[in-house]
Amino acid sequence: MREVTVDINSVSEKKYPIIIGEDLLEKANEYLLRYCPASKYFIITNEKIDGLWGKKLNIENAEKFIIPDGEKYKNYETLISILNKASELKLDRKCAFVAFGGGVIGDITGFAASVYRRGVDFVQIPTTLLAQVDSSVGGKTAVNNEYGKNLIGTFYQPKLVLADTKTLTTLDERQLKTGFAEVVKYAFIEKTCDCGEFNFIDFLSGNISEIKKLNLSFINEAVEICCKLKAAVVHKDEKENGLRAILNLGHTYGHALEKCSNYSIFTHGEAVALGLQVCFDLSFALNLISEEYYNQASELINMFEFNLPEHPYYTPEMITSAMKFDKKVKDGKIIFILPTNVGEVAVFDNIETNLLHQILA
Ligand code: NAD
Ligand code: GLY
Repeated sequence: MREVTVDINSVSEKKYPIIIGEDLLEKANEYLLRYCPASKYFIITNEKIDGLWGKKLNIENAEKFIIPDGEKYKNYETLISILNKASELKLDRKCAFVAFGGGVIGDITGFAASVYRRGVDFVQIPTTLLAQVDSSVGGKTAVNNEYGKNLIGTFYQPKLVLADTKTLTTLDERQLKTGFAEVVKYAFIEKTCDCGEFNFIDFLSGNISEIKKLNLSFINEAVEICCKLKAAVVHKDEKENGLRAILNLGHTYGHALEKCSNYSIFTHGEAVALGLQVCFDLSFALNLISEEYYNQASELINMFEFNLPEHPYYTPEMITSAMKFDKKVKDGKIIFILPTNVGEVAVFDNIETNLLHQILA
């Protein structure tokens, strides 16, 4: 069992542990009583996760609410159904919401917890790799609306993250790879996170076959490193006023691609994997990184064999126009996080359109 502490600006009620390991679902009750005692636990999950792992999840004194599976249900309607169910059950201010699932469940449950009775405690029990290394940590909650993804949400930290890596064994290959894209992202931002030397690029490159076949001792270590890196970033910048933007490496292009394809062709991770390569192409073209690092990074991205689905050709103009609608655009300028050295990145808002179009062509 591994433990990482998230300590947001040293505010005690925002300090919480991330527990990482195998067979933690069976011990959930113990952890909840210790880190998030409550009058009642309100578990939010979907049928698929409940069918696969619900029997293992040991939480006493709980009510369970099943929501439909899928990004398209991360919306107002599902949010209201969660809040209405909590009201119908007469859950009081001392109850705690429990998100049991991937990033969709985590984001919507966190949001619901942040507004139910002006805010009740909540716990993340992430069951996808993406959720274990990224979305369950750091307190971003959200739903989508017709204007875009994650436009409505709050910053609201959980009291505990319980990441049982055994749950990853039932993910299909595509979902696993979506998580790997975020894992690789951490390797490229490691030094800028400034919380110790993990040599994460070497760790991933050196253990690629064990990681790809989901050898859990390597996965546990990788999840721990990612969580340490994310915890270090949100410790310094909870609300993304600066440093936290580096977690979006690969996402400027990734989000644009998701938008162009109407969120229906690529998984988030596939789009991010392509976005990582675009960032390295841009950095190399701008002489920000050496050829050696460019080749090493491209090789690592390729090692994960992201197997992209068939997709139409999006012109550079279509992609840049989608980039301009991203919520991270500032004063009309597209923001890129670009590699500047091994494990280091910086924020750029001055990439010339001509160069961008050349790289995207
Ligand atoms: P997801 O939650 O949709 O899960 C993907 C699929 O895997 C779903 O069908 C789900 O039911 C299934 N699943 C979950 N656990 C499983 C398991 N153990 N075995 C088999 N199947 C399982 O997708 P995701 O990739 O986990 O999360 C994506 C969401 O996360 C997006 O909405 C994104 O906006 C959000 N996100 C949030 C943050 C944040 O900081 N809050 C960061 C990154 C992404
Ligand atoms: N996934 C980006 C963030 O948490 O800020």
